[in-house]
Amino acid sequence: MFTPEMLESIKKVEATRPERMGMEPRRMTADEKDALLKAYHPDYRADGFAEIKIGPNKGQKAPAELTHLLHSNSRLLHTQVDLNKIDYDVDVLVIGGGGAGASAAIEAHEAGANVMIATKLRIGDANTMMAEGGIQAADKENDSPVQHYLDAFGGGHFAARPELLRRLVMEAPDAIHWLNRLGVMFDKDAEGTMITTHGGGTSRKRMHACKDYSGAEIMRTLRDEVLNRKIPVAEFTCAVELLKDEKGQVAGAVLLNLETDDYLVARAKTVVIATGGAGRLHYQGFPTSNHYGATADGLILGYRAGAPLLYQDTIQYHPTGVAYPAQIFGALVTEKVRSLGAMLVNAEGEAFMHPLETRDVAAASIIRECSDRQKGVDTPLGSGVWLDTPMIELLGGEGTIEKRIPAMQRMYMNYGIDMRKQPILVYPTLHYQNGGLEIGGDGFTKAIPNLLVAGEAVGGIHGRNRLMGNSLLDIIVFGRNAGKAAAARAKETTLGTANLDHVKAYAKELDAAGVASDDVSPLLLPKYARHER
Ligand code: FUM
Repeated sequence: MFTPEMLESIKKVEATRPERMGMEPRRMTADEKDALLKAYHPDYRADGFAEIKIGPNKGQKAPAELTHLLHSNSRLLHTQVDLNKIDYDVDVLVIGGGGAGASAAIEAHEAGANVMIATKLRIGDANTMMAEGGIQAADKENDSPVQHYLDAFGGGHFAARPELLRRLVMEAPDAIHWLNRLGVMFDKDAEGTMITTHGGGTSRKRMHACKDYSGAEIMRTLRDEVLNRKIPVAEFTCAVELLKDEKGQVAGAVLLNLETDDYLVARAKTVVIATGGAGRLHYQGFPTSNHYGATADGLILGYRAGAPLLYQDTIQYHPTGVAYPAQIFGALVTEKVRSLGAMLVNAEGEAFMHPLETRDVAAASIIRECSDRQKGVDTPLGSGVWLDTPMIELLGGEGTIEKRIPAMQRMYMNYGIDMRKQPILVYPTLHYQNGGLEIGGDGFTKAIPNLLVAGEAVGGIHGRNRLMGNSLLDIIVFGRNAGKAAAARAKETTLGTANLDHVKAYAKELDAAGVASDDVSPLLLPKYARHER
């Protein structure tokens, strides 16, 4: 399956393996990391960004593709929707059917609210489903939420909003209990104790996992709970605009049924945006590990309604996306592969970084190796470096790969690559938006009463870089809290008359700034979808 050139390079990897097995590569100093990031991380490429010309973040930069969508008009600008014809009337509208949306809906339902989920694809078609390596929680004797906080705060370049990060780490152990009680099949030892491992940037082993399909297992469980509770789910039905009332509070959303092309009106006393990430915008031409619907919809809906973004200029490129073979280009190779002992090595078989540096540092190191240092391995779609997976079996014993990361083994076996015996080729892939809509510790946006945000659409929980396993955690912690808070707020809310005045005002601002694009947003489906909307 590998080319002759790749096989030649593998010989060099095999030759250096015995010596590498006995050593731990040096960790970089803080200054070295800063210099590396500035020189090689895509967040520092000026040509990848454009200035936002209107709205609450006017004058700040965002990825050029996101700015373009922020500068695009609503699809409702020239479409009449009868806002008096109410199709759904609920206390809590959850937009998005991934892990955060499902958690929010479950807790809102538990609190007695009349709640519904509207989701663009099917419930569970989300980045949660794609998550592999695990979920962090400091619940072992040698660990503490304080230690978790310090790891995440440092890993995020000290930029996380303290009230959000505090909530994340303090409520993590309870999040694991909740999932365990709902039926998530976590990896446990013979005594029933949860097995935990390290991730990049963690000082303690606090990664709880379900082999290497942790997200799929968590999503399966949450979806079952939503369905068992008979919470209404409108599938293939996406939000295209938020509604507000004359008091300025959110009043629901206009939805689009993607199967019938009908617009529908959902009136709601509170709305939770849980629309996930933006990988399918392919910032700077990167491939992505994200699911098909990850097009930043919630950011556009919230921003057009007046909610500020936070850290919209910082993106996570997962260091180990598949570089080869082409059929799975950009797919995620879980960080757990490195947690289990696989080293990153270049075409010469040299270990060029500590395998458990944080993701931004690891991604920048790989990009440097493949660019300026010219020590990458050529592939049909670019280049990559080796992830020396046979080390896992040598360190952990025969069978470790099959037992701990079976999905990885199966993915590569489909293409004739046995990762137990041969290393695999990786390169950074667009994985996560560190930034998103700004919220307070209670989950509400500060600008729009009764509008909450949860999951990847939130900015500020992780700062400017996220540690592995803190995203599966944040969807649970912030999803659950949003559901509880939305249900409570709905009880004390009286809605006025819904309108789309903010959409017209936004269009005027775009015109005045002379930046309106000919496209409409939110994008809903990637540019290469068979039916562009
Ligand atoms: O590498 C991974 O398994 C990804 C985990 C995450 O993004 O948290």
